[in-house]
Amino acid sequence: MASADPLIGHVVGDRYRLVRGIGQGGFGAVYEAVHVSLDRRFAIKTLRRHLGHDPSLVQRFEREARLTSSLEHPHIVQVTDFGHDDRLGSWFAMEFLRGEDLQTRLVRKGPIDSLSAVRLMRQIVDAFAYAHAKGVVHRDVKTPNIFLVSTEAVTDHVKVLDFGIARLSALTEDDASGKLTKTGTVMGSPAYMAPEQALNGKVDHRTDLYALGIVFYEMLTGRVPFSGTSALEMLSKQVNEVPAAPSAIRPDLNVHPRTELIVLKCLQKRMDERYRGIRRGRSPYGSRREEGSNGLWRFRTRIHRRRRTAAQQPTALGRATPLRQAMTGPTGPVAVRLPVGAGRATMTP
Ligand SMILES: Nc1ncnc2c1ncn2[C@@H]1O[C@H](COP(=O)(O)OP(=O)(O)OP(=O)(O)O)[C@@H](O)[C@H]1O
Ligand SMILES: [Mg+2]
Repeated sequence: MASADPLIGHVVGDRYRLVRGIGQGGFGAVYEAVHVSLDRRFAIKTLRRHLGHDPSLVQRFEREARLTSSLEHPHIVQVTDFGHDDRLGSWFAMEFLRGEDLQTRLVRKGPIDSLSAVRLMRQIVDAFAYAHAKGVVHRDVKTPNIFLVSTEAVTDHVKVLDFGIARLSALTEDDASGKLTKTGTVMGSPAYMAPEQALNGKVDHRTDLYALGIVFYEMLTGRVPFSGTSALEMLSKQVNEVPAAPSAIRPDLNVHPRTELIVLKCLQKRMDERYRGIRRGRSPYGSRREEGSNGLWRFRTRIHRRRRTAAQQPTALGRATPLRQAMTGPTGPVAVRLPVGAGRATMTP
């Protein structure tokens, strides 16, 4: 972000002075801000699009924003405030984090060894178990939304970013068209989007599990299972292609077979073939020491008793499913317009 950004110095909500642009995402921008009376730093996230004038929509937005702010967990970034600003649109204040996001880490250092990846995953799924229990689905799980906090006191303490933001953003309207994107629209990132989200916008906590499988896969191998030059190509692969096992991609990295099975189970195409939830079940690692702890080990599964067979590999959803969708960009979050109630996306110019 250029230093000539006219918003630098702007005071948001009478309290937060923007001092530096941190980055630009698909939904908006993030700024570092200093509270005008407390000597404290915050991060301000803006939603690029504006909330309409429909009072029921404003109410819904505020209800959702309150729900997002109510998430209080050691591994979820704390949203502390939100509001609307004439220049910025809707904004959220959250704790300012020091460290780097998981995408930056993977680019900088490459794949993460199995044990360290599992340790990070434990923290991540702990956060999701908590949010899912409160009925909040993330909808835009991806490595840029997993922050690794490192300070003098902690190293690689996970904070999940942007819980519920995709849903909030869908309640806003497009600046240019003024068209509401609430009904029949899916927001998400194609490289992480579950088949059901790509096909008909159906989303529940198992949609997050799929994207978590992709994040885990990426940690272990340094790449996502399905890539492509366009969003359409990636979504088509999410729906139709069976992912290669991490050990086949990087045999040199010695990914633990049980870890691999967990990843592949998350990546099942059908929602009901993934884990049912995060907190149920015993440790797939079969370690007594881990039983009773939250997180990965509590996936409902007995995969540690099974042998790895081809049948456990994720299967495609039957015959190849054609995807014809409108997208705004190949790699970042996209808005996919879907006809309400239809099982398949249609092309919107
Ligand atoms: N609370 C925070 N403290 C410090 N940096 C943050 C905070 N929240 C986000 N960031 C950083 O700001 C940058 C932009 O984040 P943003 O969420 O806008 O982008 P994104 O995750 O790529 O896209 P999306 O809008 O889809 O979430 C990222 O580098 C992110 O790590
Ligand atoms: Mg983000």
